[in-house]
Amino acid sequence: MAIRNIIKMGDPLLRKKCKVVDAFDSRLHMLLDDLKDTLHYAEGLGLAAPQVGVLKRVCIVEYEGNSYELVNPVVVKTSGKCVDNEGCLSVVGFRGLVERPEKIDLEYYDRNGVKRFLHAEGYFARVFLHEIDHLDGILFADKMIKKIPDED
Ligand code: CO
Repeated sequence: MAIRNIIKMGDPLLRKKCKVVDAFDSRLHMLLDDLKDTLHYAEGLGLAAPQVGVLKRVCIVEYEGNSYELVNPVVVKTSGKCVDNEGCLSVVGFRGLVERPEKIDLEYYDRNGVKRFLHAEGYFARVFLHEIDHLDGILFADKMIKKIPDED
């Protein structure tokens, strides 16, 4: 278990398309454990592997006391639209308003390679969509319809 360095916008690793995971081994488990430690340290809602420089389709989300580990996540269905405020541990100095689907259905694998399904709505859905975008090299800053400078 270790806290890893979170890379920032401008680093080319954040712009790569990540590779599908095919080995659900101790190396994957260590990555997931480190992502969790790093997310707790940074006090965010989610963290994707490319944010620590690992180009694999892996991300974690912590929302309302629940913890989710997603390997090879795929958005299989979306509906509705909503606009809300987002930030990112890899983007310093501003947040932004981003339009995203309101409801989503996801398929993913857990750390043991078991296929899982998840339905999410509202901000909960937004956090997953933000993290899954990271796996394709997309940042919220690319999609924002309004930039919101940090107050401090
Ligand atoms: Co982010």
